[in-house]
Amino acid sequence: MILKGTITIDGDKSISHRILIFAALANSKSTIYNLSLCDDVKRTIGILRNCNIKIKIGRSSTNVYPSIIKQRVKKFYCGNSGTTARFMLGFLPSVGVGGTVYGDKSLSKRPMKRLIDPLLSMNIKFKNIKNNLPIQFEKSNVQSIKFVLNHPSAQIKSALIFAALSSENQSTIRDPFKTRNHTENIIKYLGGESEKYKKFIIDGFNYTVPGDISSASFIVAAALLIPGSNINIKNVLFNQRRVGLISILGKMGAKIKISNIRMIQFEKVADINVKYSKLLRSVILSKQDVINMIDEIPVFALIACYASGSTLLNHALELRYKESDRIKAIVYNLKKCGAKISELPDGFVVKKSKLLYSTRIKNFNDHRIAMMCEVLCFISTGRFNNVENKIINTSFPDFYKQISKLYEEI
Ligand code: S3P
Repeated sequence: MILKGTITIDGDKSISHRILIFAALANSKSTIYNLSLCDDVKRTIGILRNCNIKIKIGRSSTNVYPSIIKQRVKKFYCGNSGTTARFMLGFLPSVGVGGTVYGDKSLSKRPMKRLIDPLLSMNIKFKNIKNNLPIQFEKSNVQSIKFVLNHPSAQIKSALIFAALSSENQSTIRDPFKTRNHTENIIKYLGGESEKYKKFIIDGFNYTVPGDISSASFIVAAALLIPGSNINIKNVLFNQRRVGLISILGKMGAKIKISNIRMIQFEKVADINVKYSKLLRSVILSKQDVINMIDEIPVFALIACYASGSTLLNHALELRYKESDRIKAIVYNLKKCGAKISELPDGFVVKKSKLLYSTRIKNFNDHRIAMMCEVLCFISTGRFNNVENKIINTSFPDFYKQISKLYEEI
């Protein structure tokens, strides 16, 4: 079996959440192309619809018709989506909505206090302040802040920006960690000022969401590791703060070529060619590398098992607060499949290993862990386990379809 051919990929999930919220804030209809329709983004759509925003999903585009925000429910369900929950905690109270944000079991364990604290200093009113969902809030009159991020979290940064955009007074939000900057780039595209945030007039717009680099990374991994493979993925988001995995794979000796680099809507987009790479070497990752590939670490861990030498990843404590404790989930699963991997407080060390898929793996209810295990299953057995559809729909509903488009039997 090999992977061969060319695909394009659904829109980036991070950008999809953000662009929908901006379209809701606009003064007339917006049209979005290549929006991700994964379960997480559907949660954001659901909440906006419950605030009287009409969103029509068509075959080739999604139209958003903003209108006066009027809430239809008191409770806003975010499912598994940390991005939806955090954005809504900033957005909803600042546009005059009160109620409760809640989520599934995994989301209800994720830390929120780190966001609630700066939101409180913007005068957003919460009831019974605690670290976990469900969290209740009231419609609030936002006050401006000067804030320097104290966690490397683009979700926190963006939630604060969404709150700041409802005030006439300017807020300054600085991000010394250089986390993903899509919110800032969209603001530039829409004619606003970045770093200094306040209300600005957003006219209805058109926006094409670039392909999701995080989803693409699972296909990149499969092509790198299956002998004879040679694939192209077109129109992929190539934002500097999201391409950590691709840069690191380059340092490891992976045969990856980037072409057709261009800017659309203040985001870099490119085409990626990936060939089977027999000789991969280990690397040591820096703090910034980790931030630039935070969602790709499960698939990176899998690739590192095929690299000569010993790969060290630390500075990644944040991984313990994702959809699962990803350090634990990565180490547990790769170990079950024969990897020489050890857990560190903030990462792991992995040596070149002979992997063999084991049925004793567990997805920890985490889409990216499930996809890491499915790629491993595919590489070592030539087929998928195929019981992971529901969880994978969280971020990448086309996962199986896209790989099967590239699949060729030899
Ligand atoms: C995201 C930011 C990151 C990332 C998540 C999406 C975003 O989370 O892991 O999948 O869209 O802003 P943190 O903000 O918690 O680092």
